[in-house]
Amino acid sequence: MSPGGSDSSSKAGGVPAIDEASRVQIFDTTLRDGEQSPGISLNTQEKVEIAGQLGRLGVDVIEAGFPITSPGDFEAVEAIARRVEGPAICGLARTHKADIDAAWGAIKDAERSRIHTFISTSDIHIVHQLQTDREDVKGQAKAAVALAKSYCADVEFSPMDATRADVEFTAEVCAIAVAEGANVINIPDTVGYTTPEEYTAYLGRLYELVPGLSDIVVSVHCHDDLGLAVANSYAGVLAGARQVECAVNGIGERAGNCSLEEIVMLLRTRRDEHGLDTTLDARELARTSRMVSRLTGYAVQPNKAIVGRNAFAHESGIHQDGVLKERTTYEIMDPTHVGLESNSIVLGKHSGRHALRDALEQLGFKVEGNALNQAFARFKGIADKKKQVTALDLEAIVSDEMRERTDSYALAWFEVEAGSRREPAARVAVKLPSGEESVGEASGDGPVDAIFGAIRDAVETECELRQFTVSAVTEGEDALGEVTVMLRAHGRLASGQGVATDILEASARAYVRALSNALDGAAVREAEEATADAAREPLTPGP
Ligand code: KIV
Ligand code: ZN
Repeated sequence: MSPGGSDSSSKAGGVPAIDEASRVQIFDTTLRDGEQSPGISLNTQEKVEIAGQLGRLGVDVIEAGFPITSPGDFEAVEAIARRVEGPAICGLARTHKADIDAAWGAIKDAERSRIHTFISTSDIHIVHQLQTDREDVKGQAKAAVALAKSYCADVEFSPMDATRADVEFTAEVCAIAVAEGANVINIPDTVGYTTPEEYTAYLGRLYELVPGLSDIVVSVHCHDDLGLAVANSYAGVLAGARQVECAVNGIGERAGNCSLEEIVMLLRTRRDEHGLDTTLDARELARTSRMVSRLTGYAVQPNKAIVGRNAFAHESGIHQDGVLKERTTYEIMDPTHVGLESNSIVLGKHSGRHALRDALEQLGFKVEGNALNQAFARFKGIADKKKQVTALDLEAIVSDEMRERTDSYALAWFEVEAGSRREPAARVAVKLPSGEESVGEASGDGPVDAIFGAIRDAVETECELRQFTVSAVTEGEDALGEVTVMLRAHGRLASGQGVATDILEASARAYVRALSNALDGAAVREAEEATADAAREPLTPGP
C-alpha cells in the first residue's frame, strides 16, 4: 500500500488510461432505480438533461427507465435513446413479453441499446410475490432472455433478491440466462441485506457454479439499507465483477443505491491497491451531483463523501495548518479532480450577452435566441444585486430559467409585509396553465408561511408542506439563496427548487414549481390509468 495523497496520473482529474481487463464499467440507474425515490417526479426534458450530463461524465450505460410502467416512462426512455450519444441506453423489463417489447420499442433508436430483464430467485419473492415456483422462474428467465436477445445484441439478466436466495438455484437460473445469450449477469442485493464478506463468497460460488460466467461481465447492484452499498459493490469488483450499478448522490428506493461518485472515487483513489479503475471524467462529478440534486429536490447532505459541501472543508486549526503547508497532509483527493473549485468564470454587471453566452457554453449549456434573452435578463437582475456572478451562480440561474419555461404554474409577482409587531401578510400573483394571472392573499406565522398561503389561495389548491430547505449556492454574504420545497398536492408528492438573491422570492418560486410538478405528475398519472384501464393490465410497481 502506498501512502495516500500524492497524485499519480490515475488519481488526477480527467479520463485515465486503463486496460480492458481492469476497467470497471459504470451502469448508471439514477433515472430508473433513483427515480423511484418518493417525491421525485422528473419530466422527459429533465431526464434528457440528466442523461446528457451522464454522457459528459462518461458512464458506460444509462438505465433510462422502465418503459412498460407508463407512457411517460416510455416517452422519456425513447427521447434519451434518440438524443443522448455515448453511453449504451438500457430499458428495464420484467420477464413478460409485453415488458420486453416495450423496452425494445423505447431503446431501439439508440446508438447502442441494452435490454435488462429480471426475475426474483429468492423463495421469499417466488412464494409471496410471484406466487409461483422455481421451475416457472427458470422457464420465464429462459424465454425472456431468448426474446430480448432476438431484438438486441446486448442483454443483461438479473436474478432479483439474489443475496437472500439459494445460491445453487440462482446459479441454475443464471446458467440458463447465459446459455440463452445474456452477456451481463447482474447480482442484486435488492434489500441491502448482504455484507462484503458474504457477497464476496456468494459471487465466488457463482463463478464456480456457472460455466461461462468468467467470459461475460458480472455486475453488482447494491442497496444501502445497512449503509453498505458502496462497500458491498467494492467487494463485488474485487471478487471479479466488472460493472457497478449505481446512482448519482446514491438516490434510490428506500435508503438508496450505491453512490456513483463514491464508488468511482474509491476505485480511482485506491487504484494503487487494486489496479482497477473506470473511464469516467471525474471532473464532471460535482456538477452531475448538483444537477441531480436540483432536479430531484433531494438535497446532498453537507458531509456526504466526495460531493458534500464539507467534503473538502478543514475546520480544525491543526488540519488547516497542515493543508496550508502541504495539501496532501489532510486531503486524499484533490477537490479540482472531482470538479469542485475548478471553475474560474466570474461575470459582473458590466458583462454583456456574448460574455454570458460564452460562459454558459463553457458550462455545457447551449443557450441561444429567446432563451438567451431571458437568461440575460435574469442574469442582469442578479448582477445588479450581487458583485460577482460565478460559475455556480450561472448554473443555478440557468437551471432555474430552463424549468420556468416548462412549468404549468409560474410566479408572476409577490408582495409581503412582515415585522415583529404585526402579523405577516402576503399577496401573490400566479400565472395559471390557462395563461391567466390569479392573485391570492394570506396571512401566516411568518413571511414564508404567508407567501405559501397566498399561493394556495391563488391556485385554489389544497396542499400539505412536507419539507422546506434553504441553502446558499456559494459562500459569502451576497450568495444566491436556493430553496427546496417538497409538498403533497393533487394526490402527488412533488418537489421544486427556486433560486434568487432574496430567500422569500426563492421560496415562492420553489413552492410554485413544486405545485406545477404535482399538477403535471397528476395529469400523467391520469393518462397512465386510462391507458392501463384500456389494456386491463395492472400498473407495475418498480422493483
Ligand atoms: O434492486 C433490484 O433488485 C433491482 C433490479 C431490477 C436489478 O433494481
Ligand atoms: Zn435496485
